Amino acid sequence: MEKIIEQIKEYKNILGNSVVIPAHHYQRPEVVALSDFAGDSYMLAVEAAKQTSDFILFCGVRFMAEGASVLASENQHVVIPELLAGCPMADMINESHARKAFEEISRVSKRIIAPVVYMNSYADVKSFCGEHDGAVCTSSNALKISSHFIAKGESLFFFPDYNLGINTADSLGLKENEVARIGRDLKVEDKESYDDVKMFLWDGFCHVHKVFTVGDVEAAREKYDNISIIVHPECNRDVVKSSDISGSTAQILNQIRDSKPGSVWGVGTDYNFIDRLAREYGPGTEHNKTIVPLRISPCVNMEKTTLQKLAFSLESIIEFREGRGELKSEIRVQQKYKDGARKALNSMIEIVENKR
Ligand code: 13P
Ligand code: SF4
Repeated sequence: MEKIIEQIKEYKNILGNSVVIPAHHYQRPEVVALSDFAGDSYMLAVEAAKQTSDFILFCGVRFMAEGASVLASENQHVVIPELLAGCPMADMINESHARKAFEEISRVSKRIIAPVVYMNSYADVKSFCGEHDGAVCTSSNALKISSHFIAKGESLFFFPDYNLGINTADSLGLKENEVARIGRDLKVEDKESYDDVKMFLWDGFCHVHKVFTVGDVEAAREKYDNISIIVHPECNRDVVKSSDISGSTAQILNQIRDSKPGSVWGVGTDYNFIDRLAREYGPGTEHNKTIVPLRISPCVNMEKTTLQKLAFSLESIIEFREGRGELKSEIRVQQKYKDGARKALNSMIEIVENKR
């Protein structure tokens, strides 16, 4: 491990300002330690877009690197250490499903439909959203993005994550008659009327977050006095309701970091992230907080990025720069999707930054 860490540092020295390495919070702790910055998916999209380096070596899953590539300038290269780092949720809808679902929703509803796509998706569906004047959202801003369209009197086609959708609907105070599920068979849930429906939710899910149960929350509360439960909004609705706080990975980190020394946290999200939080803020550190997973559920796709693969990517960038080889694992987005996807991503940023 030490040898490979030295190697990576040496490669980074050789490349200097020509490479920047962003990492998602779910990356292995040793990968995060060698990155230039770590964040939730919103922060990473915004920060990656500000970079002027020739190469962005994105440590995360493919849809995240794709988002960075959409926002990057033409002469920048976005590379991912592991091309096979996918996201099963992002695979739960494609452009053709999205078009058909949108048509079906537009048929049953009298309102204008704004498509809102979770960042955890590929460029084809982000582009579809841009085309239809919708926006991307992430877990940190789903509430703000959804409120924006609902305040204009529009209804949402929210996809692909049902849980983020229903948990956002709950935060908005929507009632059961104001929400409808649309299945992957393209059938809208039966309702007496769709006149009141403000959110049509695709029924995709994240298997990493779906496994947490109310029983896990209760067991943690029983085991630890004064425990606070914090979960990601991709968790099931009953789990979010039984927890104290829900939020994006950055919001989880901030809550734990800013809590009093000695606080006790039960966390419902990817295990590698919780492990890093426990190492940074847990017993044996000056913060002395107790940070326990509600259940051990790692995102195996995030885990695919190892130090070896990071070193391999840096080596490939060096060789490419020196004209000694091809650039391996570069993320390229089809031209036909770029403008629409960029429009949807920029709409998200403008709404979050109150520019709309
Ligand atoms: P965040 O936007 O909270 O970082 O979440 C990304 C993700 O993939 C959660 O599963
Ligand atoms: Fe996808 Fe779930 Fe992994 Fe997030 S945790 S990247 S939603 S599989």
